[in-house]
Amino acid sequence: MPANHLYIGGISASDLVHKYGTPLFVYDVNHIRENARSFTRTFESLGVNYQVAYASKAFSSIAMLQVAKQEGLSLDVVSQGELYTALKAHYPVDKIHMHGNNKSLEELEMAIENEIGCIVVDNFYEIERLNELLEKHQTKMKVLLRVTPGIEAHTHDYILTGQEDSKFGFDLSSGQADQALETLLNRERFEVLGVHCHIGSQIFETHGFIMAIRKIYETLDHWKNRYDYESVVINLGGGFGIRYTNEDEPLPLNEYVVKLVKTVQSECKTRQLNLPEIWIEPGRSIVGEAGTTLYTVGSIKNLPGVRKYVSVDGGMTDNIRPALYQAKYDAVVANKVNEPLVEQVSIAGKCCESGDMLIWDLEVPKIESGDVLAVRSTGAYGYSMANHYNRFTKPAVVFIEDGQDHLVVKRETYRDIVQNDLSFE
Ligand code: LLP
Repeated sequence: MPANHLYIGGISASDLVHKYGTPLFVYDVNHIRENARSFTRTFESLGVNYQVAYASKAFSSIAMLQVAKQEGLSLDVVSQGELYTALKAHYPVDKIHMHGNNKSLEELEMAIENEIGCIVVDNFYEIERLNELLEKHQTKMKVLLRVTPGIEAHTHDYILTGQEDSKFGFDLSSGQADQALETLLNRERFEVLGVHCHIGSQIFETHGFIMAIRKIYETLDHWKNRYDYESVVINLGGGFGIRYTNEDEPLPLNEYVVKLVKTVQSECKTRQLNLPEIWIEPGRSIVGEAGTTLYTVGSIKNLPGVRKYVSVDGGMTDNIRPALYQAKYDAVVANKVNEPLVEQVSIAGKCCESGDMLIWDLEVPKIESGDVLAVRSTGAYGYSMANHYNRFTKPAVVFIEDGQDHLVVKRETYRDIVQNDLSFE
């Protein structure tokens, strides 16, 4: 192995670039599997009933879902497109859970017709529509009730979801969750498995989860007394933080699980409730650190004493997170990994937009046009949030496993870009 090159899963980044071009998403599949297993192994060791559902919004493709399926994960989908991908990957339908704050009739019907494992009901409108469709199909559906426990996790506002002033779910304090439960229990077409909450994303501590569980258990206690209803499932969502840069200090994934399980166990014990199945829905923590984006360096603009702009051949079209959330990333020059860091540069995307900056103030070796830049931890919400601004094509995605590279999503072509355009002449 030439010492100066970055290797991903045993393959040189430069060779991958040569073979597939840039920008390129590269996933180390072993890393994905290890992340999945740190969740499942911890649940196994604690001896509780559980499901780990991969939140496919983080990165969905047929190959990715096949890996999730091989790891025995359940699957969280939030749209017809994500469900369609799951069906194409032959995901076991009973392991699919459907989310969404505005599920369309088509989405609900597709879920019913394919007999998916459960629907996470989000609002009163949905309950009525779902009930009508279940009547029409003369069938039943397992549901979880999405609640917002009034917890503010410490993360970016746009990815906060557990506070009461949220577009998602039924809030616990106003009585809306009670009303939703009553409605569901009174309809024979619903099997109410229990409750769901997701307090936010990229969370580095367990305090928010513990608070959410306690809040939920106050409600579950009340539901036992008032409706003689006991939850058989408690789904605590995802949100476990990952390392993007050295400033991030995530907990080992098993620690989140241990804390969640212990808190649920202790609440059940104090309140004399049966221990439910504990479900979680991690997305980012399964794929985030396993993905790297490779770019080719193009133009370099030096403003002496001010800044050096190094432009790459992608940007906010393949990674909108810096522009949208001021997210920080780390990167290395993949063909110069052992060279001393001698300059500070800022990495610009190539979109016609000043805000299209991927990294500010990155320490690099002497950087030149033609170098390969590897941005780390781009495996979650990168490809899945890719877009066609400036009519850029979406990159290819390559999986590496056992020292072999596999193209799993082809690079889009310009033909793909215009395929739905119709002439107006
Ligand atoms: N469950 C539910 C109901 C969710 O809404 C989410 C994320 C997850 C699970 C998975 O969360 P994770 O483990 O990946 O943090 N685009 C943003 C993240 C939005 C997350 C939306 N929901 C980003 O790039 O940071």
